[in-house]
Amino acid sequence: MEDAYIIKGGKRLNGTIKLSGAKNVALKVIIAALLFDQEVTLKNIPHIVDVQELLHLIQLLGAKAQFVEKNTVVVDGRSLNSNKVDFLHGSKIRVSFMLMVPLLHKFQMCYVPNPGGCRIGSRPIDRIIEGMKTLGAKVDYDSDTGFYEAELNDKPAGTYTFPKVTHTGTEFLILLSLFGKDRITLHNSAEEPETDNLILFLNQSGAKIERNGKKITIDPIKSLKRDNPFEILPDRNEAVTFAILALATKGEITISEISPSLLETFVKKIKEAGIGVAYTPKTMFRFYFKSFVKASHIETAPHPGFMTDWQPNWAVLMTQAQGESYIYERVFENRFSYVGELRKLGAEIEFVKIPPKDPKEYFFFNFDPNKKYNQGIKITGPQTLHGGVLNITDLRAGATLAIAGLVAQGESVINGASILERGYENFIDKVTSLGGDIQRA
Ligand code: EPZ
Repeated sequence: MEDAYIIKGGKRLNGTIKLSGAKNVALKVIIAALLFDQEVTLKNIPHIVDVQELLHLIQLLGAKAQFVEKNTVVVDGRSLNSNKVDFLHGSKIRVSFMLMVPLLHKFQMCYVPNPGGCRIGSRPIDRIIEGMKTLGAKVDYDSDTGFYEAELNDKPAGTYTFPKVTHTGTEFLILLSLFGKDRITLHNSAEEPETDNLILFLNQSGAKIERNGKKITIDPIKSLKRDNPFEILPDRNEAVTFAILALATKGEITISEISPSLLETFVKKIKEAGIGVAYTPKTMFRFYFKSFVKASHIETAPHPGFMTDWQPNWAVLMTQAQGESYIYERVFENRFSYVGELRKLGAEIEFVKIPPKDPKEYFFFNFDPNKKYNQGIKITGPQTLHGGVLNITDLRAGATLAIAGLVAQGESVINGASILERGYENFIDKVTSLGGDIQRA
């Protein structure tokens, strides 16, 4: 079987989608579960490549981590017997660097490869390393081996202010601070709901973590303990992907089991674009195409802003909008890899300069004045898209290309299906259930 999708587009998609568990919670609670002196059961865990890669990584370290039912994982860190994360598998998923925390907790020192993940920007972990050192850890990077070597012989202590917001960085330092000497305070922390779901999991298990806006305090505990399974949040990134997938084909979709607070900014922008949105606690969200889509101006930002993960899919919707739309990407550099691919299908997209007063303030990545960035695009619509041969380079761009294939008149081949399946569970079944014509090549 080829690592590609064949999609026949041009049909209006309608139906209902049951969301999978959130990838960006699943990966962190699995790692956090290694900090317990017991077996931990996690529910609503999506069967996706990134989760399977992480479970394999953890098994290589000697611990138990596996699916026991369709979406239930059990983790037991008591049998951890290695403090060196496998280089090949570790460099495949970015969150592998978070394994430093359970390894330091168990062995007081560890070796972890420089994280990989999607190809969206350089994705350094300088803020995390700084935070670790501020709290008392020793961290060195050996560029010959590509490994970080970390050491923490004493309990962590202190206060750290993130120079810029980092989602996994916040989660990493929360985990590192659990068994501290005294109260640890983190300033300018991330506010993503996925981080709050991790905090809920930990506080239900005896942790003492308090959030006050971007300030998070962690009071010391001796151990974590829980008797019942933990069920993670649904995936709001998946909700946005499927809402746009239906709407871009002028269809409608009902999305189950997601709280409005997870999609506030998306719903606001969808309504501004002239699209119908109905919400009832029973049917949850219904997104429906009305008569036409209005052009929009999007600037991505950490939660509660318009998520960077949503902008690639939004771009396809804007190829069907009336007029000129703009997307300014502030969180990651190099997150427009899909532009060249959409142009192959006839999309009219050009890069535009963003006029920020102070780019060091405006962007959430480490802005380098000597580097050239493409951080803004203009999309002119509506455009009739035709089929083509496309190549996926990162996860959310992958979903973008699949959506574009479903919008396009004609047949498309999309290479790199396995990259999309890093983050989307049962993608083919879900698209087919909406009436989409998609199959693995
Ligand atoms: C998490 O990535 C998510 N991944 C991303 O989802 C999501 O887009 C992002 O948060 C924003 O919400 C997971 O949770 C596994 P950041 P993360 O640290 O934590 C720079 C998806 O498709 N930075 O908030 O890596 C960084 O390069 C993925 O599901 C530093 O420079 O994002 C980026 O430009 C994609 N130094 C910006 O900050 C650091 O030490 C924000 O990154 C840390 C980050």
